Amino acid sequence: MNMERMLHGKVVIVTGGASGIGAGIALAAARHGASAVIVGDLSDEPREGGTPVVERLLAAGTKAVFHRCDVSSRSDMDELVAVAKDYGGVDVMACNAGIALASDGPWITAENFHKLLSVNLDGVLFGAQAAAEQMMKLGKRGSIVATSSMGGTRTGQLTTAYSTSKAGVNMMVAALADAFGPSGIRVNAVCPGLINTALSQSAPEVAKMFDALKSRMPLRRLGEPEEVGNVVAWLGSDLSSFVTGTSLLVDGGQTAVL
Ligand SMILES: NC(=O)c1ccc[n+]([C@@H]2O[C@H](COP(=O)([O-])OP(=O)(O)OC[C@H]3O[C@@H](n4cnc5c(N)ncnc54)[C@H](O)[C@@H]3O)[C@@H](O)[C@H]2O)c1
Repeated sequence: MNMERMLHGKVVIVTGGASGIGAGIALAAARHGASAVIVGDLSDEPREGGTPVVERLLAAGTKAVFHRCDVSSRSDMDELVAVAKDYGGVDVMACNAGIALASDGPWITAENFHKLLSVNLDGVLFGAQAAAEQMMKLGKRGSIVATSSMGGTRTGQLTTAYSTSKAGVNMMVAALADAFGPSGIRVNAVCPGLINTALSQSAPEVAKMFDALKSRMPLRRLGEPEEVGNVVAWLGSDLSSFVTGTSLLVDGGQTAVL
């Protein structure tokens, strides 16, 4: 199989696809031959600015549509996945939307803690449930890929809630891989390290540490959203047909030397 066409004919949904890593997943999916890309997000405005990703996909000749949704709502996820019916049904579900909060830490309020979990954990579960239901109905051997984080494997007090949520995502993909595997549906996660997006710049304490962190990373740089997108494309493709239940670090080697 040609790597450049590894998603040939596949319909891809990306939550949080308007910005950052999600936009990178959407653009990489198109580059790897996806037949249609459905972008689900709260807004189609990229947080980092610039042209909306759907406009970029359409300009590149890929069928694409934006659908407004909140991943923390199960009915929104059902409606998002229903959009894929117009294109033949979802083959690859990227449950990517996630948030980090500047107020994270050991004394995070109950309200902020539950807000973070509702996006980072409920959002992945509801997206996976909606996609798996449609895949099973249509008899598709699909692939679900969650965006977890390096923070799901290592933590510190500044990411108390965030790391807790991402460790939960890593366990969730293993459980869902077990549940959906007999139907031929694979479930995996990617765990990005520091990626150049609006989110990674939004926590001032973390952003300040970037230079020091970079000097300790084997590749000495932040990652770019499409570098995560390429790994999601591979996990979505038939090239990874025996890979399920795993959480794959995409961190420039940072975790290896921590
Ligand atoms: N940037 C990093 O360094 C990094 C590292 C590890 C993991 N991640 C993870 O990658 C994913 C994407 O992060 P990013 O850096 O691209 O962030 P981002 O803030 O640039 O983009 C996130 C997108 O998700 C959308 N979103 C937020 N809440 C939503 C909701 N309730 N419903 C629908 N969409 C919603 C936002 O509107 C935005 O478009 C997240 O899960 C994040 O935790 C990021």
